Parts: sequence; structure tokens; C-alpha cells
Amino acid sequence: MSTNTVEVETSWSASLLAEPCAVILFGASGDLARRKVIPALYDLAAHNSLASRFALIGFARTPMTDDTFRAAVEEAAKSISEVGPIDSEQWKEFAANLFYCPGEYNDSQSFARLAKRLAELDEQRKLGGNRLLYLSTPPEVYPVIVEQLGRAGLARPATPESWVRIIIEKPFGRDSASARELNQIVHGVFEENQVYRIDHYLGKDTVQNLLVLRFSNGIFEPLWNRNYVDHVQITAAETLGVERRGGFYETTGALRDMIQSHCLQLTSLVALEPPATFDATAVRNEKIKVLQSIRPFNLEMVAQNVVRGQYAAGPIGGKPVPGYRQEPNVSPQSRTETFVAMKLLIDNWRWAGVPFYLRTGKRLAKRTTEIVIQFRRAPHIVFRGRDVEPNKLILNIQPDEGISVSFGAKRPGTEMNIGNVTMNFTYREGFGEATRSAYATLVNDCLRGDATLFDRGDSVEAAWKLVDPILEVWSAAKSTPVPGYPAGSWGPRESDHLLERDGYAWHTP
Ligand code: BG6
Repeated sequence: MSTNTVEVETSWSASLLAEPCAVILFGASGDLARRKVIPALYDLAAHNSLASRFALIGFARTPMTDDTFRAAVEEAAKSISEVGPIDSEQWKEFAANLFYCPGEYNDSQSFARLAKRLAELDEQRKLGGNRLLYLSTPPEVYPVIVEQLGRAGLARPATPESWVRIIIEKPFGRDSASARELNQIVHGVFEENQVYRIDHYLGKDTVQNLLVLRFSNGIFEPLWNRNYVDHVQITAAETLGVERRGGFYETTGALRDMIQSHCLQLTSLVALEPPATFDATAVRNEKIKVLQSIRPFNLEMVAQNVVRGQYAAGPIGGKPVPGYRQEPNVSPQSRTETFVAMKLLIDNWRWAGVPFYLRTGKRLAKRTTEIVIQFRRAPHIVFRGRDVEPNKLILNIQPDEGISVSFGAKRPGTEMNIGNVTMNFTYREGFGEATRSAYATLVNDCLRGDATLFDRGDSVEAAWKLVDPILEVWSAAKSTPVPGYPAGSWGPRESDHLLERDGYAWHTP
């Protein structure tokens, strides 16, 4: 497919310049900070998207000096970051802005030291009192950090011209009650418009492209409803296992880790009504309406429409890998699910009767995140005896970022035979460049005060409310076995049955 990419000035944040500021990164010695957050800031600096007057203060329990912190994050950025190759000269320039403040999260003295260091750097570097507070710690310490920030006077802007914002990583709560409680703690210290709850899927170019595809083209939106769409499939499949996160995953599982957040975000973007404008309030208002329209699960629906599974040993890429129960820090009797498939129904005018099938899992056959919109069959096939596949619009979120459309075409030859063909657009070919790191996009948006791609407090609670009944049913059903699936497969057989029952099959990526 030829993709002629004429540049149109439609960037929603390009015109806004990042102001001088300090970023205070809590959990700075952790994996996420080193692998994603700091490399994302480097990426922004390397692309001239950060103000030259900038400072990052890492705060964590590990004792380190500024220099050892710089060396540690450089090593991590060069070996495991997702922003591509790190240029040594550019890194040197960037690293001169990195500082470290060791401290305990429940110790007011540590926060007083942090406030002092921050004030000195602000003064020396003329940062204008602007602060981005980034919580990249285990979620258990969010409440205490928020409270300490409040007590240390770090949560409020010092002047009417300056700003203070806080980014809070997922998971935001473990269920709707704990999310509500956390929202209350956060709102005790910050205004909602200072709070940026991050879900990195929303920072992926291909996820944002879903909105561009729907609302900047004339051809898709008229078909985007129950009259033309037969069903929707959303797959977020990983080949990785739980890696070194066994301890965290044991108490989390795929429903909390992926469905409540990433998969429901994708569902909202596929299903939302056109927002009045592309701004935080309008877009987020439409997103929450989708969550509120999803039919709530009851006991019977959980049994019929939700499938869980746990990976057993099997081959990934030709190599044997252990089962989940053999992973470090995982109980040999664990009942934690590493796979979920479910059927959702959205009770509104646009989607009534159109099933949305979601599935996610670790140690599956292929790493892929995709959304498949399957259209209704043509009402009448005039080519008698010729079966025609339904049309599909496939949005490849990752790793082969792009879009494809499948349709029937006449096979060459004297006979009237029909073949299924696809038209493909890939980001790499269409735009000649790869997509950017999701974290770079989101940190950039937050620095510019654009919350469109962040989650609002009410919306996180609404997403938890949907999964609450499933969590309850599963925790009560202690003797029901959790179906196993071999690593390298597409999950338990029950997942296929979920679609077969309705006359469908999962799209094989
Ligand atoms: C995270 C989950 O939010 O998303 C991880 O906690 C998961 O378990 C990851 O591996 C997947 O993200 P991505 O961008 O690699 O699809």
C-alpha cells in the first residue's frame, strides 16, 4: 500500500514549550526508573524537548552519591533502555543534571533534606519553582510519600506562576475500595488537576493513532458501530514470563496487571464517542462513559464469560522455559492467573449486541498487541457457492506497528474464485521512522500540563469496579482448578471455547 505522508500540523502539544523544572523521582534506584523513566527524560533532552534549565533528583532508600547514581543509571540506560542507542556525549550533558538524595519514605527528616536540596537546585538553576514529582516506587508506599510531600510543603506551588504535578504509576489500588482510599489520600494533598495517573499504553503512538484513525478520516467512523461491526477482539500477548517480579505478580495476576489497566484503556478508545475537542476533560469524559456502559459482571457472567489460566513449562522460541509455579518467589501451589480471556458487552446505542473479546497472557506463542475489528458479512453473496471471509481491520499496536485491512479479491484466472487479501500500512515504511517510547510521550505531556493521556481518579475507580466481581468470584472459588496452558501456546482451551460458543475464533496474529 502506498503511504504518502504529507506533514500536517496537527500535533497537539508541539506548540507548547517545556518550562524549566525539577523532576523528583521516588524509587530512583528501581528497575522502572532506570529502564524507562530516566531514559525517557534522556530521550526528551536529546530531542530538545526538555528545557535547558532542568534537574532530576533521584530519591530512594539505597545509599548513593550523585556520582554513583549517575554511573548506575548510565549503565542501565545503555544496556536495557527502550529509547534506542544512547549517545555518550549527549548522555554526559544530560547526566550533569542528575542528582541523588537518599532517604526513607516514612521519615520527615529525609523529606526535609529533600526539600532543602530542591530549594538549592531551584535557586542555582533558576527552575522557577516548577516541580514534577514522580512515584515509581512499590505501590504500598504511595500513601506515605503523598503524606510526607504534603507535610514537607512540596505539594503546593510556591508562587502563582509555578506548578507542581505528580505522576503516579500503576497499579493505582488493588480493587475499587483501595483505589477510592488512595484517591482520597491523594486528594487530601493535591488537587485532581495536579495528578497524572500513568498507563503507559496510552503513550504508545499506535494507541493514540486509534483516535486519529477514527476521528480524522471520513471512511471509518460511519462503519464504527453495531450496524457494521460484528465483534471486536483485543489481544495483549507476551512471550515473557514474570521475570524477576514473581513476588509482585503473586499478589497481582493478569486481571489486575493488564485487564484493569491496559486492556480496558484500549477498549475505551475503540468504543468511545467522538469527543467535542481533543482535550483532557472532553476525552476523559468520553472514556469513562464507556466504562460505565460495560455490563457489570455477576456470578453467572463470570462463570460464562471469563476464563483464566496459568502457564506450565513449555518451549518459547524453541527453548524450554519453566512453568509459573517454578518461577522464583512463586508458590508451588500458586493459583495466580497469568492469562485472562473475557467477553464484554457494552450496553449503549453504538455497541449494543457487539461482543468485545479481550485476552492477555504471559508466555504466549507470540509477543503482540492488536485490536481486530471484524465487520459483518456482506448481506448477500452473489457469487454462488463462494465463501467470502468477513472483512477485518487490524490495528497492530506492537511490535509491528501499523494497520491492515483484509478483504476479498478475485483470484487471477478464468474462474470466479475469491481470495482473502490484505492492505498494510506500517509505521516504519509509512513515516520512515520508528515510533517513540511511550514514557517519553507521557512525561513530555505532563511537563506541558496536558493530562489527556492520563487516567482520571473516577475512571480508575470505574475500571476497578468492573473487575471487582471477578476478583471476588475467583477468591471465593478456592477449590476450582485454574486451567494450565503450556508456555508457547495461545492459552488454555477454555479461551478458544469462549469464542467458539459464539461461532468465532481468535484471530491468529
Ligand atoms: C506492565 C505490566 O504494566 O505492562 C507488565 O505490569 C507487562 O506485567 C507490561 O509486562 C507490558 O507492557 P508492554 O509495553 O511491554 O506491552
